[in-house]
Amino acid sequence: MSGKPQVIVLPDAHAVAAAVTQRLVARINESREAGQPCVLGLPTGKTPIGVYHHLVHLHREGSLDFSHVVTFNLDEYYPMPADSPHSYHRFMHHHLFDHVSIPPAHIHIPDGTVDDDKVADHARWYEQQIQKHGGLDVVLLGIGRNGHIGFNEPGAGPETRTRRVQLGATTRTDALADFMDAAVPREAISMGVGTMLDAREIILMATGAHKADIIHQALTMTPDVTVPASFLQSHPAVCVLLDEAAAQVLNHETA
Ligand code: PGA
Repeated sequence: MSGKPQVIVLPDAHAVAAAVTQRLVARINESREAGQPCVLGLPTGKTPIGVYHHLVHLHREGSLDFSHVVTFNLDEYYPMPADSPHSYHRFMHHHLFDHVSIPPAHIHIPDGTVDDDKVADHARWYEQQIQKHGGLDVVLLGIGRNGHIGFNEPGAGPETRTRRVQLGATTRTDALADFMDAAVPREAISMGVGTMLDAREIILMATGAHKADIIHQALTMTPDVTVPASFLQSHPAVCVLLDEAAAQVLNHETA
C-alpha cells in the first residue's frame, strides 16, 4: 500500500462541494498557466451537483476558463439514447457542459447507443482516448452504498478497464427515484477501477448518513473486490472529502 488517503471532514454538503470545487479550480488554473490541457474524470449522481453548480457560477463570473479542459465521464447506462432524460449525457450537459466554455470535442462520455457487438471496441477506444490525452489528471468520484465507484460494482478489481458491466440490485434500487415509471437499465459502460487508479489525483466525495457505513468500510478494510472503492487506499494521491454525516462511523471508530 503506497498511500494513506487524506480524509477531510467538513460540517455539511455545502462545505464539501465548496472544498472540492476549490481543488478542481486549482488544477484547471494550474494547467491553463502551464499551457497544458486539464484532463478530468467526472461523475454523475446527486453528490457532485453542488460542485458543477459552483463551476458554472465561477465560469459565468468570468473567473474560470474551460477551453483547455478535457473530460471523460465515468459511465453511462447501456443501452441509453443520449437524449433520454435518464442519460448521463443529458445530466452532464444540463448541469455543466451547456453552461461553460468547454469545446464539444473535448467532452467524452461512454456511448450508450453503440451496437451490442461494438461495445467492446467502443470501450477500448475510450481507454485509448484517455491515453491519447495524456491520462487523467484528476478523477472526481462519488461512492455507491455498495461501494461502487463509477459503475464498478462489487466484484470489480484494480485490473478492470472500461467495459460493459451488469448493475447490481442496490445500484438499481438507488436509481429508481431518477427513473420514475421507466425501467432502470440492467447494464452500463463504465471506466474500470484500474482506469481510475491510473489518474494522477483522485478526489472522492461523499455526503449524508446513508454513506457512513460504506465510507468506513472502504477506508478501513483490507482492499478487496467486495468493496471496489477500497482499492483507492492504494493510490498515492487520494483525498476523501466528507460531511459530518458521512464521516460518523469513521469518526466513531477513530475517536
Ligand atoms: P449519488 O451516487 O451521488 O447519487 O449518491 C453516487 C454513486 O452512486 O456513485
